[in-house]
Amino acid sequence: MATLGVNIDHVATIREARKTIEPDPVWAAAAAELGGADAITIHLREDRRHIQDRDLEVLRKTVQVKLNLELAMNPLMVDIACRVAPDQVTLVPENREEVTTEGGLDVVRYKKELRATVSKLHDAGITVSLFIDPEPAQIETAASLLVPAVELHTGAYANAAKDSHHELQVLAEAATFVHQAGLILNAGHGLTYRNVTPIAEIQGMEELNIGHSIVARAVFVGMAEAVREMKDLIPR
Ligand code: PXP
Repeated sequence: MATLGVNIDHVATIREARKTIEPDPVWAAAAAELGGADAITIHLREDRRHIQDRDLEVLRKTVQVKLNLELAMNPLMVDIACRVAPDQVTLVPENREEVTTEGGLDVVRYKKELRATVSKLHDAGITVSLFIDPEPAQIETAASLLVPAVELHTGAYANAAKDSHHELQVLAEAATFVHQAGLILNAGHGLTYRNVTPIAEIQGMEELNIGHSIVARAVFVGMAEAVREMKDLIPR
């Protein structure tokens, strides 16, 4: 059974729209835990457009389930992670103009830089996951970097209007490759109440990270209920 990591970034997006104190992502995390979240995920972006340093500090002290921090491979950000010590860091690419994380981290291209980053995070006792596209070369390189886990980018599947079956097949094949490489299989991006179940059913899926869809639903039914509804769509 796949676990559910609830990404609460967009609760902070609403707060930052007014540069005020509410809604507080710390409250959102507590409510998500009450709804059954297995992990809380936040992305501390370099431009701090949603999650702030204060959120990370407080969440580290208050979150009782696994805390997963998404981060760009930037020495300043990695230093913050090493100091605050979340349970897991997921390394992601980050472009200033993007609305959300667009593609996977090109671990083939950045292999040399990643080696140092991964070892620094491991030395701080943090589990590292790499957010990558579902491609054999990316998976193979991730394994060579000795990380325990990867998160496969499900955006192409989520955005496929007609050919989602093909994209599901691509993810299922990549998942087999992830297991053969001895890595833990996580997945996320663009997953919703409508498209999550086939991804959750992929053999050996460990963790799904879902943000926008759950926060959008939470506006109408509350965070705990939105999380409960998503959990119900993930086969036990
Ligand atoms: N996984 C990663 C690595 C991400 O960068 C994001 C977006 O922050 C997500 C999962 C969640 O994506 P969504 O908000 O589309 O559910």
